[in-house]
Amino acid sequence: MEAAAERGTVVTACVTGAGGFLASWLVKLLLSTGRYAVRGTVRDLGDGKNAHLMTLEDAGERLQLVKADMLDYGSVASAVAGCEGVFHVASPVPSGQLSNPEADVIAPAVTGTLNVLKACHEAKVKRVVVVSSVAAVFNNPNWPKGEAFTEDSWSDAEYCRKNEEWYFLSKTLAEHEAFAYAAKTGLDIVTICPSLVIGPLLQPTVNASVKIFLGYIKGDQETVNNGSMNLVDVRDVADALLLAYENPQASGRYLCCSPAIRVSDIVNTLKTSYPTHTYPQKFVEVEGSNTYITEKLRKLGWTSRPMEETLRDSVDCYRALGILN
Ligand SMILES: NC(=O)c1ccc[n+]([C@@H]2O[C@H](COP(=O)([O-])OP(=O)(O)OC[C@H]3O[C@@H](n4cnc5c(N)ncnc54)[C@H](OP(=O)(O)O)[C@@H]3O)[C@@H](O)[C@H]2O)c1
Repeated sequence: MEAAAERGTVVTACVTGAGGFLASWLVKLLLSTGRYAVRGTVRDLGDGKNAHLMTLEDAGERLQLVKADMLDYGSVASAVAGCEGVFHVASPVPSGQLSNPEADVIAPAVTGTLNVLKACHEAKVKRVVVVSSVAAVFNNPNWPKGEAFTEDSWSDAEYCRKNEEWYFLSKTLAEHEAFAYAAKTGLDIVTICPSLVIGPLLQPTVNASVKIFLGYIKGDQETVNNGSMNLVDVRDVADALLLAYENPQASGRYLCCSPAIRVSDIVNTLKTSYPTHTYPQKFVEVEGSNTYITEKLRKLGWTSRPMEETLRDSVDCYRALGILN
């Protein structure tokens, strides 16, 4: 695949679920390079939760929003038609219990991904970068206990199903289907598997992963588990997606995670910058932590910013939005 940067042309790229947390940062990044005209899909063009997209720099010239539901093949096919690259980001990330896992997460993730890939194949898209997750990596009872995870580890779908871990199952099945489709058709597909994504929000609503993170730093609970957290900055994930698209050598899957950090270290780091905020007071030590080897992604040139920067920028943003005191 010839990189757009080398050709010096403006490439039309589609970003699915453009109004979401990660996708919004990706749209912003693509626009900022000057190398992309972006077609972002949203489910409801009139919904105010997507209004931030058209306020991004250069959006007026190079961002087009189109309506598409990943379960509606026709809308997906129209969205990717004429695009050279596609970033498939849209997938439900639920918080809380699901009343109908199949309809709520499995079908949108799996059928949604297959619809995107089929449409891309028909539209002769050059490369599709699919956002998977470490949820498709770590839930594997056969992986040696304590051993760092690599791209070779896959979550066990039946194990996820047995434990009713529906989101993990949705990401595992969707990523398997993506590679099966690539093997069958020759479509160039690269997947990125981020850990828990945090960072400043561009959109007005709080997504599931930031909600989880806020639970640890809000100070609503006096005592929290002092586990080791595998976080990654949303801006670094957007960088990873772009690298995976532009680097002709990129192939297969890539783990995307910053070095692990304990909850107590997060709180202590934040205390130095925001001493008046109410933090959890007590930590309960918990056993076990996951380590992800990110060597493969780093070989593409990926770097992750210092976690102190992510924490500071996140808290500044959450305070400005009034979701943190
Ligand atoms: N956040 C994390 O910690 C994390 C970690 C690893 C991987 N990921 C992956 O990263 C991607 C983005 O996650 P996020 O955190 O940015 O979540 P998010 O803010 O909740 O965004 C999810 C997006 O998917 C869209 N979507 C869901 N179902 C759809 C459907 N049937 N048709 C069209 N669009 C649909 C949503 O659109 P609506 O606004 O219309 O609902 C929304 O734009 C997902 O693939 C997720 O699995 C996230």
